Amino acid sequence: MSGVLIRPMRADDVPTAERLSDEAFLELDRRVFRRDQPDPEPRRPDHSAGWVERTRHLLGTDAAGCWVAEEDGAMLGFATSLRREGTWVLATYAVRPGQQGRGLGKQVLDAALTHSQGCLRGMLSASDDPRAVRRYLLAGFTMHPQMSLSGAVDRTAIPPDAGAKVREATAADTDLMDSVDRHCRGAAHGPDHPLMQRIFRAVVSDSTTGSGYAYLNPRGAVALLAATNRRTAQRLLWSAIAEGPGEQTIGHVTAANAWAVEIGTAVRLGLRTSGYLALRGMRPPTTYLHNGALL
Ligand SMILES: CC(C)(COP(=O)(O)OP(=O)(O)OC[C@H]1O[C@@H](n2cnc3c(N)ncnc32)[C@H](O)[C@@H]1OP(=O)(O)O)[C@@H](O)C(=O)NCCC(=O)NCCS
Repeated sequence: MSGVLIRPMRADDVPTAERLSDEAFLELDRRVFRRDQPDPEPRRPDHSAGWVERTRHLLGTDAAGCWVAEEDGAMLGFATSLRREGTWVLATYAVRPGQQGRGLGKQVLDAALTHSQGCLRGMLSASDDPRAVRRYLLAGFTMHPQMSLSGAVDRTAIPPDAGAKVREATAADTDLMDSVDRHCRGAAHGPDHPLMQRIFRAVVSDSTTGSGYAYLNPRGAVALLAATNRRTAQRLLWSAIAEGPGEQTIGHVTAANAWAVEIGTAVRLGLRTSGYLALRGMRPPTTYLHNGALL
C-alpha cells in the first residue's frame, strides 16, 4: 500500500474510470445476482457515454469531490461526489476487482468525504456489496433498503385519465424543479438540471394543489421523480407508466415511497429489494424517487 497515491481526478482520467467502474460493477453483479434474473452484462455504449458526460460535468462543478487511487501510474479506484446547498452526494465509487478489500476504498472515500465538510446532509445509493455498506456505515450513514418493481405492465389497470395535468417541461421550469427538490430533499439539483435536461425527457405537473416533475430515460423509465405531495407524485408516475413500454422498472423505491409500491403493484410489476439509500442527517424522502448517481 506504500506506493498508493490518492490524488484529485483529472479530465483525462474519466475514460479509464468509466472502464474501471464497468468492470467493478459487472464483477459485483456476477457475485450477487439472483438466479431468476438475467445474467449481468457489460454496460451498453450509450450508458458508458452518459457515465462519461456526467463525470466530466462533476469535474466541472465539484473538482474537489472527485478523487483517484493510483499505484505505479495505474488507476486502482476512484470516488466522485458533489455538494448541493449543504447536501453532499456520492455519485459513484469503485475499486478494481482483485484490488478490493485492501483499504484502497477507505482512502479514496475519505478523500471524497473532505468535500462534505460543512454539509449537514448526505445521500448516496449503495450497492449490495457488503464492503461498500461497511464503508458507508463507518462514515455515519444510515442504510434504508431499496426496492425495485419490474415486469410486464398490466395496461388494463392504468386509470383512463393517466397523463392528465402532466406536460412537457421547458428550461423555464428549472426554478420550479429546484424548489420542488428543496421541498423533497432539502437541496436543489442546481447545475445538474441542465445536464439532466440534455440526457432525459422532462415532464412537469404544476397546479394550485401541488407541483412536481419527472425525468424519463430514453427507454421511458423514471430516472428521477419529485413532487410536493403524494397525489402529484402518483400523477407523474401514472403518466410515465401509461406512456412507457410494455416491460418497465421502477427503481430506487424505499419504504417511505409506499405510494410508488401501490402503483407498481396495481399494474402487476414484481417487487424485490435492491441495494440501499444511504442517508446522513436526513430522513428518506417521501414524494421522491432519486436518480441513482445525482440523487
Ligand atoms: C465498495 C468498494 C469501492 C470498497 O473498496 P475496497 O477497497 O474494497 O474497500 P476497503 O478495503 O477500504 O474496505 C472494505 C471493508 O469491508 C470489509 N470487508 C471485506 N469483505 C467483506 C465482506 N464480505 N463482508 C463485510 N465486510 C467486508 C473490509 O475488511 C473493510 O473493512 P475494514 O476497513 O474495517 O477492515 C469496492 O469493494 C468495490 O468497488 N465494490 C464493487 C462496486 C461497488 O459496490 N461500489 C460502491 C457503489 S455504491
